[in-house]
Amino acid sequence: MRFDEKTVIVTGGALGIGKAACEIFAERGASVAIFDWDEKAGNETCDEIVKKGGRAIYEKVNVADYEAVKRAVEKTHETFGAINSLAVSAGIQRYGTALSTDDAQWEEVLNVNLKGAWNAAKAVIPFLQEAGGGSIVNVSSVQALASQQNVLAYTISKHGLLGLTRSMAMDFAKDNIRVNCVCPGTVDTPMLKWAASLDPNPQSVYDACNQMHPLGRIAQPREIAEVVAFLAHESSSFVTGAIWTVDGGLLTQIGGVPRTE
Ligand SMILES: NC(=O)c1ccc[n+]([C@@H]2O[C@H](COP(=O)([O-])OP(=O)(O)OC[C@H]3O[C@@H](n4cnc5c(N)ncnc54)[C@H](O)[C@@H]3O)[C@@H](O)[C@H]2O)c1
Repeated sequence: MRFDEKTVIVTGGALGIGKAACEIFAERGASVAIFDWDEKAGNETCDEIVKKGGRAIYEKVNVADYEAVKRAVEKTHETFGAINSLAVSAGIQRYGTALSTDDAQWEEVLNVNLKGAWNAAKAVIPFLQEAGGGSIVNVSSVQALASQQNVLAYTISKHGLLGLTRSMAMDFAKDNIRVNCVCPGTVDTPMLKWAASLDPNPQSVYDACNQMHPLGRIAQPREIAEVVAFLAHESSSFVTGAIWTVDGGLLTQIGGVPRTE
């Protein structure tokens, strides 16, 4: 699965799943634009790729800011030429119920996780049209298809990404632009490390997450990024509007039944 002569933009590409996606795209010949608001991590990821012989640029971007995203997309086009794919991995997790979530948290989560994906697509689609087609892959979550306690804004944002994916898949199929979505289970990333750190016993969070997946473990970022890469690649040329769970079987099992050896 080569990406020679292709340019891919990855939001949230500095860390976690997005970083793994950047590495895969670069290893397979793509020019990669890393869009992320974490300047230190963004530059580090970019440098690592370039040191290994890959082509990458880093753009400091808050995906919630459409004008900033648009400028970064234009810079990518100036630097690498035609843009072929967009992978949206920028996201944040916050906790709250319908009562404890305040307006600020609602806006923060929805603006980054959902509007950020729209912003990126809105800025990139004209370039995909110019290139004669392309692909967009949104990283959602199993929390787009089910939910947990205390994750109101997050789960709404992730459910919303399904609508964004399907809606854009319909609107831009005529332009040969495919839009798909992946829904990961738990993944070993800085986001999970942060979430676990909120618990007095972080290891217990990892243990519980490992146990709840039928495969008996959480995912490594590359295991999600490989599916992102497949959906970005022309190998998946007849896949659009699809929602792919990449969850170690998490949503397949009947709730409440413990995993047996
Ligand atoms: N880790 C998991 O268990 C898991 C499970 C399901 C879905 N996801 C989703 O996958 C995506 C990636 O998650 P991850 O675990 O790699 O997270 P992460 O926190 O490890 O990495 C996310 C990256 O996005 C960047 N980012 C966050 N907000 C941004 C903003 N406003 N503008 C620009 N960059 C921003 C961060 O700086 C970081 O580099 C997220 O959308 C997350 O919701 C993660």
